[in-house]
Formats: sequence, C-alpha cells, structure tokens
Amino acid sequence: MQVFREKEAIKKAIQNAKSEGKSIGLVPTMGALHEGHLSLVENAVKETDQVVVSIFVNPTQFNNPDDLEKYPRTPQKDLQLLEGQFENLWVFIPGANELYGDNILSENFDFDGLESVMEGKYRNGHFDGVGTVVKRLFEIIKPDKAFFGEKDFQQLQIIRKLIEKTGLPVDIVGCPILREESGLARSSRNERLSSQNREKAAFIYETLKDVKALFGTKSAQYITNWVEERFEKHPFLKLEYFEIADSRTLKKINEKRKGSQYRAFIAAYAEDIRLIDNIALDN
Ligand code: PAJ
Repeated sequence: MQVFREKEAIKKAIQNAKSEGKSIGLVPTMGALHEGHLSLVENAVKETDQVVVSIFVNPTQFNNPDDLEKYPRTPQKDLQLLEGQFENLWVFIPGANELYGDNILSENFDFDGLESVMEGKYRNGHFDGVGTVVKRLFEIIKPDKAFFGEKDFQQLQIIRKLIEKTGLPVDIVGCPILREESGLARSSRNERLSSQNREKAAFIYETLKDVKALFGTKSAQYITNWVEERFEKHPFLKLEYFEIADSRTLKKINEKRKGSQYRAFIAAYAEDIRLIDNIALDN
C-alpha cells in the first residue's frame, strides 16, 4: 500500500500506471471506513488494475459546522483496515489546499433539479460541495471507473449527471448498500449512536421493507401517510423526510408509470445523528 498526500506525486504515479496500460479505479471516501466502504474497494479491485482510495473530509459539503466538527476521523484505523484487506492499494489523503488552494469554496452546479430535492432541500449547498470535490478528484486521478454506494443514491445520480454535463470520461459504478446485522445501513455516523439506539435505528430499514411490500397495492400518498404516522409514534427517531421518487429523475411520484423505476427514501434523526437510507421498490 502506498500513501500519497500530494496531488503532483499521485498524478505522476498514475501517469506511469496508465503508460503501462493499467486501468485506474477510484473510491472517494471521507474516511472513518467501514464494511460499506470496503465493499466498494472490493468491487474496484475486481474491475480495475490500480485502485486509488481517497480519504478527505470535504468541508464544502457540510452545511452544518457542528456536523463537520463531529464527523468521525480515524486515519490510523482506516489505513490499517485497508492494509489488512487489500494488496497494492494507493491511498490519497490530501490536505484541503491540495484540492482547493486558498479558497475553500464550492462551484455552483446545475444538476437539472436532482440537487434541489431530498438531501439538497434539507442540506443547503451540499451537492455543490460534493460536485466540487468529486470533480477535482476526477481531474487529478483521471480514473477509468469510480465507485459509489447506493446508500447515498441521490449522490450517485448526481455524480452520473456531473459526468453527463462535464463530459469527463469516467464510468460510474453504483454498488449495493451494506447493512449491519440488524438491517441498519452501515455508516460512519453509526459509531456515534449508543449501542441500544443503534439496534433500534434498524426501524428505518424495517419501515423501508414494509413500504416495498405495500407498494404493490397502495398509492404513494397512502404509504407516505402511513410512514409519517409510524414515525410519529416512535419514541426517539424523528423523521425528516420520506419520499417515493422516480429512480432516474428523483421526482416525487403521484402515480406509478409503466416502464419507470421507483425508490423510497428516508432521512431521520436518532438523538442528534442524521441517518439516511433507501430501497428499490421494483425488484
Ligand atoms: P462517505 O460518506 O465516506 O462515503 C463514501 C462512499 O461509500 C460513498 O459512495 C457512499 O455511498 C459509500 N457508502 C457509505 N456507506 C455505505 C454502505 N453502507 N453501503 C455501500 N456503500 C456505502 O459519500 C461520501 O463519503 C462523500 O460525499 C464523497 C463522495 C467522498 C465526497 O466527499
């Protein structure tokens, strides 16, 4: 495993790898790595010759300074995890100035409306921050393929839109959601939950599975009311939003249309920790 902290150094290494005919895979992360991240790396190792994992807690995508400050940072453990499980990885851990220079600011993107629903609605500027950092990583690493989790499904669709709009030649690979035994989607934020509440937060996925079962026979409006009532009765989980949306446009649906695919999305707070999850409704 090789660790790079400077963009010029990793650019050179990548140029060499490419001149040897190797394909490059990129897995962008914010660290505090868990099985979910590792599953993306596994896919990258299967599909490309030289895998780069980037670790950078990107300040521009946090709309809430407290969330940025509390975001878990476990750099030593991250490197140990990667080293223990994979051979020949390159890990890129840039300082903010390597990506942003002196101005830690987002570009403004137009993602055709994908950025203004759900996470975009509740986290102002979030996707401008994500778009900015991912675009810079793509420009530095020039990956053939980049791997993103369906855990952040809206982010995955936005990155696909970024590629469509910028024309950068990167193949975006979406990877399935990894869950804890309880069903709770794995997330760096789960570390901050008490063990009791961590078990109870599985309610989010249980609800999504029930939604999937109901989707065959009930309307989106009926299901939305049902979910909202269920959360109102819950002792500590607070629902921020529930939506059933078209998987491609992320537009909330009123009626089901033939040939479209749908997903259900939840954001909820457990204590002060924000958790998100989603499920495909058509398969
Ligand atoms: P981060 O939250 O660290 O996630 C990095 C990648 O891991 C994302 O593509 C995310 O969807 C994926 N991931 C997280 N939990 C997962 C799970 N349980 N199963 C499958 N994949 C999972 O997402 C970000 O960082 C940032 O926004 C980033 C893209 C790195 C830009 O800063």
